[in-house]
Amino acid sequence: MAGAEGWSSTQLRQYSFPLETIPRLSCTDPEADRLISEEKPVVLTDTHLIDSALKWDLGYLRANLGGGLCSVYESDNHKFMYFDEKKAKDRKDYTPCTKRMEMPFEEFVKQLESSAETEGKRVYLQQTLNDTVGKNIVVDFLQFNWDWINKQQQKQNWGHLTSNLLLIGMAGNVTPVHYDEQQNFFAQVKGFKRCILFAPEQIECLYPYPVHHPCDRQSQVDFDNPDYNRFPKFRYASGLEAVVGPGDVLYIPMYWWHHIESLLEGGYTTSVNFWYKAGPTPRNIVYPLKPVQKMAIMRNLEKMLAEALGDYREVGPLINTMIQGRYTLMDMTEVNGNKVLYTD
Ligand code: OGA
Ligand code: FE
Repeated sequence: MAGAEGWSSTQLRQYSFPLETIPRLSCTDPEADRLISEEKPVVLTDTHLIDSALKWDLGYLRANLGGGLCSVYESDNHKFMYFDEKKAKDRKDYTPCTKRMEMPFEEFVKQLESSAETEGKRVYLQQTLNDTVGKNIVVDFLQFNWDWINKQQQKQNWGHLTSNLLLIGMAGNVTPVHYDEQQNFFAQVKGFKRCILFAPEQIECLYPYPVHHPCDRQSQVDFDNPDYNRFPKFRYASGLEAVVGPGDVLYIPMYWWHHIESLLEGGYTTSVNFWYKAGPTPRNIVYPLKPVQKMAIMRNLEKMLAEALGDYREVGPLINTMIQGRYTLMDMTEVNGNKVLYTD
């Protein structure tokens, strides 16, 4: 990779797992449509989805974003792990690693510039585009290539667009690996980001937090320092990667794990994502179920058990009692020739 694209491999962090490259295709290539309909990641190079936002530098945004407050996360290190604020509130055993603040855009730019100098605290703006934005941003937004994206939404039979998140991060910022419950067209506006994706079935290797934990949907594995004693199957993780630059659109399929890092050098990065609800569940169900359908079942089971038991803390012990020595046998690893578990 690298070379002509405007970045080099020295700007990438180093990890322990193998990586393959996500295809980069024209949106007119039938292969691109095929990948999206199979819910496989692809980088589209010529959608012109956010051409009208390519001019969104910090000065333009400061002048046009409007007077509203922005959500800005602050971290002591390069990682910005998402956590659910509601779930975090009623748990004394959990201290968030990042702090969310509300500030005018102007103030964020000041912090961005001062922390870029001191290399102390890092900041990451993550603000939904809403109706408080100024007139020029509204005009730019209306000039997005809705023609292309609305057609994709129809072709793939997705639900409605739920939100567009504007992300402005410092060089080297990392969003640790997690999955979302929505389809995502991730549009890069300024700077370069490296996106590492893992297929949903790698849930076995990535050990997500329990559903009731504030870090639900996030992996417990620290890519910078993996604990193979706690997470032995992380050895089998293998990813797909792409470095996206201005104008590129990465399709991140629902339930696909993704780690996103702003390159180590090259200044701040700006992205805008497009999150869509999943389409309706298919009428005729095909067995064996797909990994994403099994993930949905597991999530629902955890929720049902917590509800039935009246306390999420009883979920783990109950599941353990249910499976230990009964479902934890080696001969359960293959069903009808399908590998259902990795084994050591
Ligand atoms: C996303 C996402 C993180 C980032 O768009 O779903 O996780 O740092 N983005 O861009
Ligand atoms: Fe995400």
